[in-house]
Amino acid sequence: MKQFSATIIKNNKLCKDFFQLDFSWESEKPEAGQFLTIRICDCTVPLLRRPFAFSAFNNQSSIASIIFQRRGIGTELLAAKTPGEKIDVIGPLGNAFPLPEKIQKPILIAGGIGLGPILFLSSTLQDLNISSKFIFGCRNELSIPKSDQFSSQHPVICTDDGSAGFSGTVGDYLSSIWSTIESDSVFYSCGPHPMLAACHQFAQKNGSPSWISVEQIMACGVGACMGCAVKVKQAPGYARACKEGPVFSGYDMVW
Ligand SMILES: Cc1cc2nc3c(=O)[nH]c(=O)nc-3n(C[C@H](O)[C@H](O)[C@H](O)COP(=O)(O)OP(=O)(O)OC[C@H]3O[C@@H](n4cnc5c(N)ncnc54)[C@H](O)[C@@H]3O)c2cc1C
Ligand code: FES
Repeated sequence: MKQFSATIIKNNKLCKDFFQLDFSWESEKPEAGQFLTIRICDCTVPLLRRPFAFSAFNNQSSIASIIFQRRGIGTELLAAKTPGEKIDVIGPLGNAFPLPEKIQKPILIAGGIGLGPILFLSSTLQDLNISSKFIFGCRNELSIPKSDQFSSQHPVICTDDGSAGFSGTVGDYLSSIWSTIESDSVFYSCGPHPMLAACHQFAQKNGSPSWISVEQIMACGVGACMGCAVKVKQAPGYARACKEGPVFSGYDMVW
């Protein structure tokens, strides 16, 4: 983990309110599930660094990427950044998704801002010649990212309003294909809390491992403030999303 000033290479709009930011990377190679924190500007608002999961890393060029949604002051400023500008970053932080065991069939599920880490995992598995099923849930057709990395993973797209792909949530989709899900599947998910809970329930029902990545609001991002604690079954009853996570076994969580 290292703090440095990264140079923005590209900042592309992928769809309504979603952007992909590519920037130079000078620390250890990040893995799918890990994140970085960004001090977006040298100003008092926003004061705190903002956490984002890696969505890709190019080994040859040492360029890292995130996919972010414009939702408040920090991401509004980030969306306006242009190539050549600098951002202060710390990373890689947190743990990564464990890779599937040889016999396991990975099912990858992403919703909303959970797209980045799941897309990174999907690309990593593709590079390792491990086949997986990738399911992406979003509101409507305007929220489908236009990116080569995304389309190269051949995602099953689920839209809440049925304007594209499967009509319904990722949970509805999983129910619809339930009879085809193999017993040696392993579930990976990242997205809103209700979606994580639903995905974990499907994994549990199938008797499968369940890896979830939580996106708690964070203050320090490095394990010092306890601001990102999640409830877990093991003593002392909580874990820090930024240090012990953000990836947890769904079986360890108090839902
Ligand atoms: C480990 C981790 C990985 C993340 N990865 C991504 C990512 O890949 N892409 C992405 O777009 N976002 C990601 N997030 C969420 C991201 O950090 C927030 O969206 C961002 O900090 C919002 O900053 P802001 O200043 O624009 O919004 P603010 O002005 O701070 O808040 C705007 C709104 O967003 C909500 N919000 C703020 N932070 C979060 C959060 N962590 N989770 C849910 N709601 C939040 C606030 O409650 C508020 O309603 C991640 C968060 C964590 C902890
Ligand atoms: S954000 Fe401070 S301990 Fe996790």
